Amino acid sequence: MSKQIENYFKANQALWDAKTPVHIESEFYDIPGFLAGNSTLREVELNEVGEVRGKTLLHLQCHFGLDTLSWAREGAIVTGVDFSQKAIAKAREMASEVNIEAEFVEANIYDLPEILLDKKFDIVFTSYGTIGWLPDLDRWAQVINHFLSPGGTFYIVDFHPFIWMYDYDLQKIEYPYFNAGVIAEENEGTYADPNAPIKLAEYGWNHPSSEVINSLINQGLEIEFLNEFPYTTWNCFKNLKEIGKHKYVFKHLGHKIPYMFSIRARKGNGIL
Ligand SMILES: C[S@@+](CC[C@H](N)C(=O)[O-])C[C@H]1O[C@@H](n2cnc3c(N)ncnc32)[C@H](O)[C@@H]1O
Repeated sequence: MSKQIENYFKANQALWDAKTPVHIESEFYDIPGFLAGNSTLREVELNEVGEVRGKTLLHLQCHFGLDTLSWAREGAIVTGVDFSQKAIAKAREMASEVNIEAEFVEANIYDLPEILLDKKFDIVFTSYGTIGWLPDLDRWAQVINHFLSPGGTFYIVDFHPFIWMYDYDLQKIEYPYFNAGVIAEENEGTYADPNAPIKLAEYGWNHPSSEVINSLINQGLEIEFLNEFPYTTWNCFKNLKEIGKHKYVFKHLGHKIPYMFSIRARKGNGIL
């Protein structure tokens, strides 16, 4: 990892440490609802991941663990990983508050093989706002492959790379579709509270669909499906309207564009 990339990660860590307390208090994340028994998982991932009961699940970039703990409520044996110290502290606190057994690891996902060593998982899961924080998807896919048991499942649902070409309310193209290197910005607020007094540097990367898929194929994973969705399940952009439960589209674009994609891939079990 170059010194420059390390500095980008440090800045992003500080950003997520600043966002986390705001997110914890936000209606967007609805912690009281979660504590009362609600799941934060959406129909898309609930329908597409497959059976999780009794399976070990590694959640990459878990933020403060609401989805991780929701998977535990579905019967999975969960481990969540995030590099925000504040997020992992809250995840651990909530796990004990709702009495759910869960392991939370504070780490950069790229360093995880040195931390969890040879531990293997039936499912590796990641969702909504993940790969845009990662400079190198080949290394990301190596980490996924490293942790998957033979026959195990990798699943991602995230915002479509089409969306990341645009400004926040999808009015004009501002960024390259392709990965043209780091995108350095200083944005105000956060998607869970646009008025929050946060204004810090952030560093992201755009990844076209081909880069995501090829990174997984290059690790020998077998792609089971790639789906694209004409709505977002999270109300996290400007100018959205609600069209159904957990379904939002831009007011001026409706269903015309892809908002999210999902991929499920399987690691072979070595039997030909
Ligand atoms: C948008 S959130 C993930 C969203 C999650 N689905 C949620 O809303 O609960 C992105 C998370 O990625 C984490 N993150 C970003 N880069 C990371 C890295 N290199 N290693 C580990 N975590 C990272 C951030 O700390 C943040 O918690």
